[in-house]
Amino acid sequence: MKKLYGVIGYPVAHSLSPVFQQAALESLGLDAAYVPFEIPPDRLNGALQALEILGVEGFNVTLPHKETISGLIASQDRVSRLVGAVNTVSRRPEGWSGANTDVPGFRTAFRLFVEKKIKKELFHPIVLGAGGSSRSVVFALREEGFRRMTLVNRSPGKARALLDSLFPGPEKEGIFVLSLEEFSEKGTGEGDILINALSREAFPESFHVLEGVDCSGIKGFFDLSYRPDGLPTAFLKAGSDRKIPGEDGLGMLLEQGALSFEIWTGHPAPRAVMAEALHRKLGRSLSFDPDFSGRRGD
Ligand SMILES: NC(=O)c1ccc[n+]([C@@H]2O[C@H](COP(=O)([O-])OP(=O)(O)OC[C@H]3O[C@@H](n4cnc5c(N)ncnc54)[C@H](OP(=O)(O)O)[C@@H]3O)[C@@H](O)[C@H]2O)c1
Repeated sequence: MKKLYGVIGYPVAHSLSPVFQQAALESLGLDAAYVPFEIPPDRLNGALQALEILGVEGFNVTLPHKETISGLIASQDRVSRLVGAVNTVSRRPEGWSGANTDVPGFRTAFRLFVEKKIKKELFHPIVLGAGGSSRSVVFALREEGFRRMTLVNRSPGKARALLDSLFPGPEKEGIFVLSLEEFSEKGTGEGDILINALSREAFPESFHVLEGVDCSGIKGFFDLSYRPDGLPTAFLKAGSDRKIPGEDGLGMLLEQGALSFEIWTGHPAPRAVMAEALHRKLGRSLSFDPDFSGRRGD
């Protein structure tokens, strides 16, 4: 029988995951389909039961379900428990099992960006945003060995709450919190890379929070967001206006999806096929090498 995989979110029509996951399944000759399921927040519990009855083998989780799904599944891996966000769910005999591939996906994409486009050691990332994906980013940066960081958010209280839940002990020493206004006034300080984890609605056309901000110490602009049309995001345009190298979230998207694919199927993900499918859909090449072999975050 055909195996069924998918992505749940609300909305979900914009998701690029079906594009490259379906290509990956077909390239390995697997009789399977990957489909989007639009599930409103108040229907999540019922939807999980329906997906189980329908025989779905596994699915990705996107906004707004990444955090709430934790309380509704049978088990979770270490990283998703520590981070408090699940983006990959698999069918197990005891029920749905959650994992977080955003953390290793970010680590790999970020590491490749630094190795290939920055080529310098970094010491102090500035993370814009304190939502679900910032949790994965801050956790991943600590695992990458960064001791100092700055978190910038519209609601600084949410950033502090994020740190308290991620690092309940003294591990949060060296992580500073600024509001967007304080950041605009103080500038980038000792920060040497900007990582944007704000939702795209925050600054859709122009990244005005950086207007007039001295970015001379910044060596790279790394954006978790990407545009469905493949064009540069407002954040990356702010970087390229200053002649600072940048990378959008397509590399992270691809790598987190490749890791989900491997969890579900047990096969190495055909990353070059996945990248080619994205390239065809967006009409542009990805700016990174999809052959991540031997250089993955773990
Ligand atoms: N490439 C990938 O694989 C990947 C993976 C995960 C996420 N992402 C992308 O990362 C981005 C963030 O995702 P998320 O899940 O973290 O979103 P989220 O949980 O909704 O976080 C939203 C963040 O944006 C801020 N924000 C929202 N509207 C704003 C506004 N009008 N002005 C200023 N700040 C505003 C929020 O600030 P407050 O806290 O003050 O509300 C919060 O910090 C999305 O674009 C998503 O597509 C990409």
